[in-house]
Order: sequence, then structure tokens, then C-alpha cells
Amino acid sequence: MKAVLISKPGSAENLVLGDIIRPVPGPNELLVKVKATALNRADILQREGKYPPPPGTSELLGLEMSGIIEETGQNCKGWSTGQSVFGLLSGGGYAQYATIDYRMALPKPEILSHEEAAAIPESFLTAFQALVWLARIQPDESVLIHAGASGVGTSAIQLAREMGAHIFVTAGSDEKIKKCLELGAEFGTNYKNRSFFEPLMEATGEKGIDVIIDFVGEPFWDQNIEALATDGRIVILATMGGSEIPRFSLRQLIRKRATITGSTLRNRPLYYKIDLTRSFTEFAYPLLKSGRIRPVIGRIFSWEDVVQAHRYMEQNLNIGKIVLRVTD
Ligand SMILES: NC(=O)c1ccc[n+]([C@@H]2O[C@H](COP(=O)([O-])OP(=O)(O)OC[C@H]3O[C@@H](n4cnc5c(N)ncnc54)[C@H](OP(=O)(O)O)[C@@H]3O)[C@@H](O)[C@H]2O)c1
Repeated sequence: MKAVLISKPGSAENLVLGDIIRPVPGPNELLVKVKATALNRADILQREGKYPPPPGTSELLGLEMSGIIEETGQNCKGWSTGQSVFGLLSGGGYAQYATIDYRMALPKPEILSHEEAAAIPESFLTAFQALVWLARIQPDESVLIHAGASGVGTSAIQLAREMGAHIFVTAGSDEKIKKCLELGAEFGTNYKNRSFFEPLMEATGEKGIDVIIDFVGEPFWDQNIEALATDGRIVILATMGGSEIPRFSLRQLIRKRATITGSTLRNRPLYYKIDLTRSFTEFAYPLLKSGRIRPVIGRIFSWEDVVQAHRYMEQNLNIGKIVLRVTD
């Protein structure tokens, strides 16, 4: 089969289409003919050799896919060839065929194209994990979602909206803020023009924010702590702006009864990801089926243009997800 290969760790130009052996599904796995996959920031790190795949998983890029079942392992009851499915992978989505544990596969809703379905798993499961499992967000609480127009950000806004939260965002352009407001955010700050702390305190009547989902790290740390309400929770999912905090008084955490959590998804054990997929499905599948929530797709590239797709992400140009259409 054809797959996107990394000729040597480094820049986007090192991604090439090549031939490798098709994966063989295990007893609990479906073999899927991939129609679309989507980009994640982790793909860039893996391409650069800074984020090796967890042991025992595919060496290929691609943390999610949508496609058509080609073969079913002997334990995959309830699934049949020809069915359209999508789901989260530990790797292997940038290929014509991928295997997925049947307990992590979801039937593709009719209303969604393969390109849309492929854009769901990583960003929506990450956002759901952060908002529900880690921050335990409650209706009417306030949530600040940084990088609001990112893949994870646009998913988090929609989920938080459906959970009845008051949503605040930061993003790096007015166009990105506008998209976040359309999705359900009440207020957005272009962090490149001004700090977000003062407007958020004013918007929350000086109460501060109950839940903060952060991907930026050091540049936002002081403002995050200042803007956090009593009993607030911060979930740190990435440190795109830096990870070292030079000086910090722990007293602030005690005073606010704050909870600060970091998390990952890819290297979680299989049982955790199966449980997370189930929990997400219970809440979100009816909303996906009815079209109430829908992945935001910034741009679709043919997988032959994977180099341009990676460059597009590296330039922070995307609003929502970047999708690769996989063809024969
Ligand atoms: N821990 C986990 O479980 C987990 C899971 C999935 C993803 N992630 C991480 O979450 C982050 C978002 O992922 P994604 O796929 O949704 O990304 P994405 O769609 O590529 O969007 C990332 C956006 O972040 C903003 N950004 C980049 N550098 C920044 C900086 N230094 N300061 C402030 N904003 C910055 C940019 O938008 P602006 O124009 O608004 O600046 C950029 O477009 C990534 O770092 C990814 O690795 C973590």
C-alpha cells in the first residue's frame, strides 16, 4: 500500500509518498481503507524526530482517520466489511489502510463526509477529556479556551457550549476570534494586541474563570493564575509558547484552592482510550448525528500535497482542522 513516509527526521519536505506492507488486523481490530486523515501538531514533532510513537504502535504519522472497513478481526462482533467508520489511532492514519481496535471505532454518521469524520477523534476526544474528565466542568461555569481557533479549541468551544458553560477564548487574529464567537464563545481576546486578564475579570464581574484549557504555557501563566476563580481548574495540554516558569508563589494555589493538571492522550493505555471513546460517544454522538456539533475544517489537502499541509499548520494559518484526502 501507499503511505506518507518520513525520509529523514526534519522539515516538511522530508515527507514522501512511498510503498510499505499493508497492516494485518489482529483479532480485535478492523482493517480500514482510509479515505481521509487529519493533521495534529504532534505529527510535526514526530516528523522532526521529537515525538516517537509509543512502543508497539504504527511508525507512520496519523492519529485519526475515516474510511471503509475492508476486513474484520475474529472478535469484532457487530462490524462488517463495507461499513464506514472513523476513530482515534495511535499512528498509521497517513496511509491507504490502517488498523483500529473495534472498541475505538465509531460508525460514521451519514450527515458527515469522510473528511469531516476524520477531523473529529483527536481534537474532540482531547477537548472532552479536558473539560469533562479532568476539569469536571459544570453548567453555568465559565471556561477560558486558549488557541480558541485551533483544532482542539474549536472542538472544546462546541462541547462546552452544549454543556451550558460560558465560553471565553484567546486567539491570534480577529478572524479567528470571529469564528470562535460564531461557534458559541461569548467573548474573545486577540492576545497579540492586549492582555486577556483585565477584560476577562470585567466580563466575569471580577469573579474570574472556573476552568482554563491551556496550550500556551509560560507566556500565559501569570495571567491564567490571576484570572482563575476560587476552586478553579487549569488543564495544561501543551506549552507552545514555553514551559519554564521562572518564579511562582505556591501560596496563590492555596489561596484560590486551585487544581492544575497536565495531560496527554496518545500514550494513554488502550483501556483508557476505549473508556474515553465510550464516554464521549454517549454525550456527543447524538449531537454529531444531528449536526449540532460539527468539526471545523480549515482546509482540505490531497495527501499528495502533505508537505504544503504541514507547512500550513506550521504557519498557524488554520482555523479548525487540516484534513488530508487519501486516494489510490
Ligand atoms: N495533551 C494532549 O492530550 C493533546 C492532544 C491534542 C493536541 N494537543 C496539543 O494542543 C495544541 C493544539 O493542537 P491543535 O492540533 O488543535 O493545533 P492547531 O490546530 O495547529 O492550532 C494551534 C494554534 O495555536 C496557536 N499558537 C501556536 N503557537 C502559539 C503560541 N506560542 N502562543 C499562543 N498561541 C499559539 C496558533 O493560533 P493563534 O493564531 O491563535 O496563535 C495555532 O494556529 C498543540 O500544541 C497540540 O500538540 C495536546
